[in-house]
Amino acid sequence: MASKPMHLVQNARRGPYATLTLRGEVIPSHPGQFYMLRGDWGLSPLLGRPISILGEEAARSEVRFLVKAVGEGSRILHALEPGDVVHATGPLGSGFPLSGWDPQSPVILLAGGVGVPPMVYLASRLSESGAGIIFCQGARTKEDLLLLDELEEMGVTPHLATDDGSAGHKGVVTELLARELEYQPGAVFACGPEAMLRSAARLCKGKAPCYVSLEAAMGCGYGVCLSCVTQVTKEGRTANQRICKEGPVFDAEALPWL
Ligand SMILES: Cc1cc2nc3c(=O)[nH]c(=O)nc-3n(C[C@H](O)[C@H](O)[C@H](O)COP(=O)(O)OP(=O)(O)OC[C@H]3O[C@@H](n4cnc5c(N)ncnc54)[C@H](O)[C@@H]3O)c2cc1C
Ligand code: FES
Repeated sequence: MASKPMHLVQNARRGPYATLTLRGEVIPSHPGQFYMLRGDWGLSPLLGRPISILGEEAARSEVRFLVKAVGEGSRILHALEPGDVVHATGPLGSGFPLSGWDPQSPVILLAGGVGVPPMVYLASRLSESGAGIIFCQGARTKEDLLLLDELEEMGVTPHLATDDGSAGHKGVVTELLARELEYQPGAVFACGPEAMLRSAARLCKGKAPCYVSLEAAMGCGYGVCLSCVTQVTKEGRTANQRICKEGPVFDAEALPWL
């Protein structure tokens, strides 16, 4: 799959986080999908990096991402300046379902770490359709809480949890999920560290359908290199699935976690 050159129009940095706005040919996407982003960085590092879509403005041919600088590739993306070229392949993978539950029931969005951007995109799409949204965000400390202003703009007040108690509930975000499950949500959507996803899947079992977005180190991002395979249960049998192609969003019931 060919990458498209896009231009950076804005880079809003806050500590290790950078919100990038790219302009170019934009194919309509679903929340939960991602792009492989590669700066104009020559042969090192060799591969693009998978980054979730935070939002898109089709009319302006713009798509937005939030990147945390953790290593070589993400540090280069974090340092981009307006006018720089980014080679972008996407949108890739499956998105979160946008219907299929009782529309009268609220849905819970559970986000942690760099799992927040796709959940903010999902919240924006769901709020357009009038769904009741309970947004729970967890982080180590308050400086790592993300995109609170964007949530506020769309009228979503997030329930917050921090490990050190510097904002919201002191503890892990799944403690908030356990409480909110009492409201009998139509579905739960989660993106974040695997420990959070496993815990969410266990808490939701028998109470609400749960969809989780998995992470993996990715080579190609579109189903060819098989570097991202995970095992799922399908119709009672174990099957291999590519996180980049059949995922990254999976029904938690299909994962060998419960
Ligand atoms: C579908 C998908 C969507 C993602 N969306 C976002 C996003 O919206 N914003 C964002 O900042 N990041 C996102 N990530 C994670 C991002 O792709 C990695 O942080 C990035 O590839 C790291 O590359 P690097 O060159 O900076 O780090 P490297 O030098 O490759 O590695 C640095 C450190 O990060 C770890 N690491 C590398 N890749 C991953 C990974 N995929 N998962 C967990 N640990 C990893 C390595 O083990 C190492 O400790 C996403 C990942 C996937 C699979
Ligand atoms: S990253 Fe290549 S098959 Fe998934």
